[in-house]
Amino acid sequence: MEKSAKWILLSITMLLLAACTPDEAQDNSDEALPTNSSNEDGNAGFTSSERDASSTLIVYYSLPETGGVDAVAGSSRVVNDGEVVGNTQQVAYWAEEQTGADLFQIETVAEYPGDHDELVEQGTEEHENDSRPEIADYIDNIDDYETILFGHPIWLADLPSPVYSFLEDVDFSDKTIIPFSTHGGNAVTDTKETIADLQPQAEVDIDNGLTISRDDVPEARQEVNDWLTQIGFE
Ligand SMILES: Cc1cc2nc3c(=O)[nH]c(=O)nc-3n(C[C@H](O)[C@H](O)[C@H](O)COP(=O)(O)O)c2cc1C
Repeated sequence: MEKSAKWILLSITMLLLAACTPDEAQDNSDEALPTNSSNEDGNAGFTSSERDASSTLIVYYSLPETGGVDAVAGSSRVVNDGEVVGNTQQVAYWAEEQTGADLFQIETVAEYPGDHDELVEQGTEEHENDSRPEIADYIDNIDDYETILFGHPIWLADLPSPVYSFLEDVDFSDKTIIPFSTHGGNAVTDTKETIADLQPQAEVDIDNGLTISRDDVPEARQEVNDWLTQIGFE
């Protein structure tokens, strides 16, 4: 009698699981932005790698080139509803919209030039001198987060100097860091490994990072959404 009751319960559970197929979950996420409650424990169909947006922080560094579009060298900017945003910033905004996670922008005390050539010159100089530009602000409530989506542009096949400053100062111990980046054509870098070196007490998910060429950023919303689904944000 007890055995048959268990079987009935199991059958009902299987039916409920079958009712929420992965395809349906994907359709729902396309229709509306997920809320934190969609990741609560106990929802049928969720996998163990499901991530909780309420304990996720999107941290990014990005420099929109306000000096105008350089048709030859390419530009680090996207015009979004009239607002000029950086390429990495655009990806971070989409991740925020898709997941509902909090957003934190790394900013330096000193302003960088908006002009492409001047910016490249300054970035190159900082890279050569191992500069550590001063960071304007840090994360107050870092203990609230378990997962960090960490975005940055590629500078000189490396992390920008302000990202070094930030990662050397901040402590992401015991958190999972999933990197994302944008670049101007050279996607082959060791930046994910560098982030892991700078945060030895964190788990850096090197295999599941995302990198997008700046030329593809304006059309990359779906790619970003697919990546977020892949890393556990339904
Ligand atoms: C100082 C500097 C150095 C750069 N170095 C590289 C590089 O080595 N390889 C590359 O593919 N792109 C390089 N780029 C291009 C940026 O990675 C690309 O434009 C990126 O999308 C900028 O992102 P953002 O708009 O979020 O700042 C560099 C850009 C700057 C400003």
